[in-house]
Parts: sequence; C-alpha cells; structure tokens
Amino acid sequence: MRTEEIIQNAVEMLQKAGTQNASIGMILGSGLGEYAESLQNKRFVNYADINGYPVSGVAGHKSRFVIGEKFGKTIVIMQGRFHFYEGYPQELLTIGVRTMKRLGIENLLITNAAGGVNTAYHAGTLMLIGDHINFSGTNPLIGRNLDSFGPRFPDMSNVYDKSLRTKLKTLAARDGIDLEEGVYLMMTGPSYETPAEIRMARALGADAVGMSTVPEAIAAAHCGMKVIGISLITNMAAGVLDQPLSHAEVTETANRSAENFTKLVDLIASELF
Ligand code: HPA
Repeated sequence: MRTEEIIQNAVEMLQKAGTQNASIGMILGSGLGEYAESLQNKRFVNYADINGYPVSGVAGHKSRFVIGEKFGKTIVIMQGRFHFYEGYPQELLTIGVRTMKRLGIENLLITNAAGGVNTAYHAGTLMLIGDHINFSGTNPLIGRNLDSFGPRFPDMSNVYDKSLRTKLKTLAARDGIDLEEGVYLMMTGPSYETPAEIRMARALGADAVGMSTVPEAIAAAHCGMKVIGISLITNMAAGVLDQPLSHAEVTETANRSAENFTKLVDLIASELF
C-alpha cells in the first residue's frame, strides 16, 4: 500500500474519533506514554486497526493514537512510535507525523528516552533538543518525494524551532523546571552503543544519544511543522559509568521522572503551543 493511502486511512479513522479542533501533536517515547492518561474525554485508535499502519512491539510502548482535551485544546498523541530497528522501511517512520499534518496539526512535541553523552547530565535530566545529528546512515525522505508535504531538498537549519525553544527556556526557568539544551545523535540501535562509539558521539558534539526522533523530526521539518523535542536522559551512555545498560533501567528512570516530565509537557501544551 502506498504511504499516501495509509495516511488517508489513518486520517479518516482519527477524524471519526473527533480531531476537528486538534492543534497539538505529541509522540511519547519509551516509558513516557503515561502522559496520555491525563487527557480528558479520551478517544483511542489502535494502530492495528488502521489498514496498512505498522505496529510497535517494544516494551514500554503502547501502539495507539490517543485523542483528548487538555487546557481547552485538542491533543493527538502517538502512544508508542515506530523505530527503524524494528525493521520498518524509512518511509513508514514518517507516517505518524504526516497523519498529524493532514489533521491540521502544526505544533509537534517529540519526546524520547536517551542516553546521556554530556557528562554534566545525570539520569533524570530533561534536555531540550537544540539540534540533531542524523547518524542513522539513512534518511526517511529517501525515495519518491511526496511533493504535497514538502520539497525534495528541505532546509534543516531550524528543525527544532528556535523561537519556541527560547520561549520554552524562559517558561521553564520561571516555573523552576531544570531544562538543559543539547544535541541529540541518532544511532539505529537496537544494540546500545559501545563506549568507543559514545566517545565518538561526544567528539562529534552530541549531548545525548538515542534510537528515534530524528526520522520524525525530519519528516515534520519537511512539511513545515513546528517541532519541540525533549529527551529524558534515562541513563548515562555506555562507558560513562562503570555499569551495563538495560531497557529496564530506561523504563525505571522514565517512571521515576514522570512528575517532572509531566510538568514540562503541561507547560508546553498550555503556554507554548
Ligand atoms: N543509547 C541509545 N538509546 C537509548 C539509551 C542509550 O543509552 N538510553 C535510552 N535510549
């Protein structure tokens, strides 16, 4: 099935669930999906029920859209995302974002769990993504360009909207929420990085490393959406501390940091977007 058709199937199902006034999109990363529960008047659309949609099978990820209201706004949340390491073709990694665009959503919050490369960070640090390094070795826009979304060679100099970032840093400081700003580097995973790879990432200017977000952010920039990216540092990256990494640690830190994360996301939904 062509990507456009899959997107159209999703748009129709979501509109039936009530997305007429939707203005905010969110993609919630590993262990961060709980935020969706805080919406009022929730409606659910399972990815599995959308003809052609991929389904994420990663622990800590549900596989559905949650639509609901908060702060008088209609929010569409992807509770669970698609990862390159699950074997999906790159183009499929763009369809969630493009579905939101077709629903009329222009403001997108992308979140993830990430490893801390910057040694000043610690498990629980919230990092605003200032920019990214696409180290995945590929690009979600490879292949036929969908001209109805954006140009063949899209500009990537302001993927994470600068004026929104500036405003968010001010709001976070006002509310006493600690927020770092840094560069997110994407590796494909699913293996975690080696200590040598993390030293390389640091030398390249990365502050955090993870296995998602970049394909979605590129797709969003391609179609002109305004993006805010938030990484929750769930662990220090390989070799920083003398201990092995595990997915259990990632979800544990995410659960422990839920309160801070929720505060920040609420701030974004209520005052930034
Ligand atoms: N590396 C890559 N992805 C991650 C990590 C990490 O250390 N932690 C959470 N996601």
